[in-house]
Amino acid sequence: MAGRYPQEWLEELRQRADIVSVIGSYVQLKKNGHRYVGLCPFHNEKSPSFYVDGQKQVYHCFGCKAGGSVIQFVMDIERLTFPEAVEFLANQLHMPLPELQNDPAYEKRRSLKERIYLANKAAARLYHQHLWQEDGADILAYVKKRGLSDAVIRRFGIGAAPARPNIGSTLMSEGFTKEELIAAGLMLERDGRVFDMFRNRAMFPIIDAYGNVLGFGGRAIGDVQPKYLNTSDTPVFNKRYNVFAANLLRRARGLQRVILVEGYMDVVSLSQFGVEGVAATLGTALTPEQAKLLSRYAPEVWLSYDGDSAGQHAILRGLDILEEAGVPVKVLDFPGGLDPDEFIRQEGLEAFEALKPISGVYYRMLREKEKHDMSAEEGRTEYAKACAGFLRRVKEPVELENYVKRLSMETGFDREVLLQQIGVRPAAPEKADVPRRESFRKKAKEVSQVDWAARTLLAVLSTGRLPEGSVSPEEFDDPAYRGLCEAMLDGESPAALMERQPDDEGRAVIGDILSINTDLDDEGLMQMAQDCLKKLRRERLEKEMDKLQKSLSTLPEEQRAAATQRAFQLAQQLTELR
Ligand code: GTP
Ligand code: MN
Repeated sequence: MAGRYPQEWLEELRQRADIVSVIGSYVQLKKNGHRYVGLCPFHNEKSPSFYVDGQKQVYHCFGCKAGGSVIQFVMDIERLTFPEAVEFLANQLHMPLPELQNDPAYEKRRSLKERIYLANKAAARLYHQHLWQEDGADILAYVKKRGLSDAVIRRFGIGAAPARPNIGSTLMSEGFTKEELIAAGLMLERDGRVFDMFRNRAMFPIIDAYGNVLGFGGRAIGDVQPKYLNTSDTPVFNKRYNVFAANLLRRARGLQRVILVEGYMDVVSLSQFGVEGVAATLGTALTPEQAKLLSRYAPEVWLSYDGDSAGQHAILRGLDILEEAGVPVKVLDFPGGLDPDEFIRQEGLEAFEALKPISGVYYRMLREKEKHDMSAEEGRTEYAKACAGFLRRVKEPVELENYVKRLSMETGFDREVLLQQIGVRPAAPEKADVPRRESFRKKAKEVSQVDWAARTLLAVLSTGRLPEGSVSPEEFDDPAYRGLCEAMLDGESPAALMERQPDDEGRAVIGDILSINTDLDDEGLMQMAQDCLKKLRRERLEKEMDKLQKSLSTLPEEQRAAATQRAFQLAQQLTELR
């Protein structure tokens, strides 16, 4: 699998990607000795058992046994194949892929992308400058009228595209070509002439988690249509895959939820009032890709769309998308059809924070109820049927009970009747917390004493601090451990070793090995190695002895003497080892 890329190149990629900072952008990590610890992103846990080792460049979870190199981590968290994960990391590090290094078409695409990033960054700077200048005065006035403070204007890099366009020509004088600016969506060509794309608009730069400016949303300051003009998709910008304010999401630490709103203005306004962890889609409906992206930053997403009917529809669709993507989701519903921006301005931060999010099921029930005449039997019946459909998906019996009680009160149907309508059978035993890797956890528990000795010895060996020749592969009976020992002696890095494993189980074993504590001085390490060697040797001798004794009675006469002699030898060696 890894064969497509030269080992040295992969090693460089792993080094440059630095596992601590890569994982740190998904998981909140705390330093603990020379390692970092945090809550495992691959299973639900309340106390941290997820370790990242910056020296060995590997991670390991004691809970679910996930583990591996930085590339493995990206594969698991982004659900990518090995080559895709490699490409993902290489892109972020601006490392050309080896096989593509000499491909001119790739270089061209790549450098166009880089030129677009540069042009966007320069444009964002210019727009922002114009906001404070004479020709941006109308736009500044508009932004101020919307209640934005200087601080929040700076935080989001909000700018002004002046009514008399000049950004394009300024960028060209800075060395960008017409083609580059068109490709970036900053200019457009019509009848052989080029124009600035944005005029007389308040500019909201759309910035990704790594600080790249992907494009812009331009808000008209009067009653001009369209109200928002967004950069169309470009080689660096795809509305399906990005969200507004990803850069701030990434910086917010320890978020318990991401609040997803509809409008850029909502994000900016909530931020000004002190609400962190807010993002918006880019003027289109929520996509599965965005759902996955958001789930990286917090354990739940709260949908907080406008209170009008379009917003309510979007919430129902958003619930489906997030639930399908396996992202826990709640709804933050505003009274009186307000949007988040209006609500926080009218009611303030405290009132906003006092709002209780409601579950997706409950939200669906509320919306459903509006469709029926609840004073008529027929209406109540239809309502109960529709709700039974939603309730089929509720897994927790106690939660289900709450909904059923409510529904029974609303409709007058007996609890039992409703349960029948829902189709509930006696609950099957709940699956465990970590189904995906359960088998490995069991394996770890079944590890024998000898396994432990072998693993500990390999852990010591992986520090590279044992004198040469202290351990040889023959010490290991198990071919898997022997192979690991050989690879380590050959100087393969722990991270590379993990990547070579064909399955999760192999990686889990190596993860176990590498997470054995070897924080000892040289003497301590040597002692540890010797203890393990003793145990392994004793096991080997005992096994041989066992076999010998069993075979002794059936051996032909002429071989018996030699066998007895060997038994003596073994017994002697065993005493020496004790
Ligand atoms: P304000 O109306 O200024 O408060 O802005 P808002 O951000 O609250 O916008 P609104 O709730 O009306 O719309 C939500 C989002 O939909 C916006 O942030 C835009 O991303 C998008 N949007 C709104 N109007 C248009 C439009 O005319 N064209 C496009 N392409 N997108 C729009
Ligand atoms: Mn609004």
